[in-house]
Amino acid sequence: MKTHFLSFLLLILFPASIKPQTYQPTKENLESRQEFRDSKFGIFLHWGLYAMLATGEWTMTNKNLNYKEYAKLAGGFYPSKFDATQWVSAIKASGAKYICFTTRHHEGFSMFHTRYSDYNIVDGTPFKRDILKELADECHKQGIRLHLYYSHIDWFREDAPWGRTGRGTGRPNAAGNWNSYYNFMNNQLTELLTGYGKIGAIWFDGWWDQDRNPDFDWQLPEQYAMIHRLQPACLIGNNHHQTPFTGEDIQIFERDLPGENRAGLSGQDISSLPLETCETMNGMWGYKITDQDYKSVRTLIHYLVKAAGKDANLLMNIGPQPDGELPAIALERLAEVGKWMKQYGETIYGTRGGCIAPRPWGVTTQKGDKLFVHILDLQDKVLFLPLEGKKVKKAVRFADKAPLKFQKCEKGVMLYLSDIPTDIDTIVELQLGKGALR
Ligand code: GLC
Repeated sequence: MKTHFLSFLLLILFPASIKPQTYQPTKENLESRQEFRDSKFGIFLHWGLYAMLATGEWTMTNKNLNYKEYAKLAGGFYPSKFDATQWVSAIKASGAKYICFTTRHHEGFSMFHTRYSDYNIVDGTPFKRDILKELADECHKQGIRLHLYYSHIDWFREDAPWGRTGRGTGRPNAAGNWNSYYNFMNNQLTELLTGYGKIGAIWFDGWWDQDRNPDFDWQLPEQYAMIHRLQPACLIGNNHHQTPFTGEDIQIFERDLPGENRAGLSGQDISSLPLETCETMNGMWGYKITDQDYKSVRTLIHYLVKAAGKDANLLMNIGPQPDGELPAIALERLAEVGKWMKQYGETIYGTRGGCIAPRPWGVTTQKGDKLFVHILDLQDKVLFLPLEGKKVKKAVRFADKAPLKFQKCEKGVMLYLSDIPTDIDTIVELQLGKGALR
């Protein structure tokens, strides 16, 4: 399974990869982590041929669609309404600071112009436009970070070894040809990191496909080293549902806030790396025509605020339509969240999870000597804050800076609100004594 020759070649050419286990992030990388951590909110876009089937991005394997038949979708893919400017403008207006785009999902179709397979948006469709290039140019123009999702799984390629998914797509050889597939991925990653300007992160997915095959070696250290060599500031995250591996720069959670595990994919420990959790705006990653069950603005904002309270970013997903537009409800939600972020973003961006751990009533975020108390669900006008040993100098309602009464009590302070809070998020800003929050 191992590409001894390739590893050998890499070691000769790039001695830095000799000891990938001693990964030392560069200065640019650390700055990029900081920027990422401060940005708090991103939009995930799952787009591929699967949008046309309109039943989510797993249809190929769920329905055991033959890979040669499935590939014929490409000949009819013409997202005539795709407009990168509109996408990026709408996303930027939501307050999101980055976009993570699926360059190639498990179906194996490349949404960018790759030289290493014709099965791509330019060579394989009548559309013939490099969607990623248009998106990347627009992101760079509008000053929003671009992250690239890249699947380690491929249900289309014959050289991709079978994992526990994609077994019914008719590919002839279960073993595949790892060397060939690994080279293909590294070649594509090189294209992605050299042809589309500055890339904020590579977001890997699919490691778990071989979790029943403990001997499988994805050869990640060499791949990670290559990415960092090409763009040192590019962050690496892997949706493997494990604590981060050496060479990774961020820790990803799927469908759960760090430390929670309702969806069953997030039992891993929380590391000290910047954290991100992803969630769907309706119930599916890829476009699903029957799923109009979009989360309410309140729910979305609560999720974002709760993520911030856990010191994590929220990567909120939208599945673009086959015609190239973002669903109208998603656009509405983006606009609403944007309105909220414009007013309250100061209590989210650049903050860290607050010194009061998340509570059933809400969370706290902090910046400098300010503690922001986000009250999401409280049935009383009084709130106890466990701030023992910390001096509270002032309490105001964030929205209008109206002073609020508070009283020191045993083990903390009591905060008195004028009414029972009903807003999406009632934010109280506390000025604490110098250094209290460090
Ligand atoms: C899962 C799914 C995938 C989706 C991803 C997003 O791992 O395989 O379809 O892209 O989660 O988090």
